[in-house]
Amino acid sequence: MQVVEAKGFSIPIVGLGTWMLRGRECARLTEQAIRIGYRHIDTAQMYDNEAAVGEGVRASGKRAEVMVATKVQPTSLAPHDLERSVKESLAKLRLDVIDLLLIHWPNPRVPLSETLGAMAKMKREGYVKQIGVSNFTVALLDEANRVSPEPLVCNQIECHPYLDQHKVIAACRKHGMAVVAYSPIARGNAKGDAVLERIGKAHGKSAAQVSLRFLVQQGIVVIPRTSKIERLVENLALFDFELSEAEMAEIGKLSRRNERIVDWSWSPNWD
Ligand SMILES: NC(=O)c1ccc[n+]([C@@H]2O[C@H](COP(=O)([O-])OP(=O)(O)OC[C@H]3O[C@@H](n4cnc5c(N)ncnc54)[C@H](OP(=O)(O)O)[C@@H]3O)[C@@H](O)[C@H]2O)c1
Repeated sequence: MQVVEAKGFSIPIVGLGTWMLRGRECARLTEQAIRIGYRHIDTAQMYDNEAAVGEGVRASGKRAEVMVATKVQPTSLAPHDLERSVKESLAKLRLDVIDLLLIHWPNPRVPLSETLGAMAKMKREGYVKQIGVSNFTVALLDEANRVSPEPLVCNQIECHPYLDQHKVIAACRKHGMAVVAYSPIARGNAKGDAVLERIGKAHGKSAAQVSLRFLVQQGIVVIPRTSKIERLVENLALFDFELSEAEMAEIGKLSRRNERIVDWSWSPNWD
């Protein structure tokens, strides 16, 4: 598995997204993903599946090789709440440590310095290995990197061929942070896209694989989600082909549509 290096930490470039996966199905998919080579599993308090993810990781017998990322929800970013939340996540996961802890969404009601100070404390005390953020804008990345006592290794953002994220990607790179792409196959919309299908056909690959390869080829970590075992294999088979410069440029043009899947308008009211 290829990795993306950020501030001395290695992030496996393909991970399994688990939003919407629950219970036995989630545990089974997590276990199977690890068995076939995934080394990065993405969960969150909000997904209500940390227990199942932990079960799948343990069942794989490869805990030591796997990076598990979870996220603190925006209503738990005050220091005391964050500490409680991290301990709850660990109890649900039933793992020794959280490999990567992210702020799920920024919450303007809690000063970033307080949240990041609490995350650094959890790291120093051995509850988490590394910390990072998600859904941070360019301005928030500048502030976070200025005030964080510990290095921030990544920003997990919506990223796929239909969205222009070049400004926030450049900001991540300026700060030495990895970009982790969520919804990397545009929630399944890549399938059936005329451009991606045509390019895929030329390589004997699916449109979803082209969407993922487009990101991976730029050094962006991808965390596609699937509920189907056969698609676990498909979404990992990205390293036996390469997109040409012309193909990368053609896919890059799809971002002119600038279509966001995740609606940010629900986020401001965190009370
Ligand atoms: N930080 C955040 O705020 C945030 C927000 C959103 C998501 N995330 C994370 O990112 C992960 C991935 O994003 P996502 O779940 O929004 O979207 P996604 O991974 O882009 O797409 C998932 C959808 O695509 C389908 N799919 C998967 N593989 C496919 C393939 N090879 N061909 C065709 N369709 C395929 C899946 O259906 P089947 O199940 O039928 O395969 C599912 O409906 C999440 O699960 C979560 O872990 C984080």
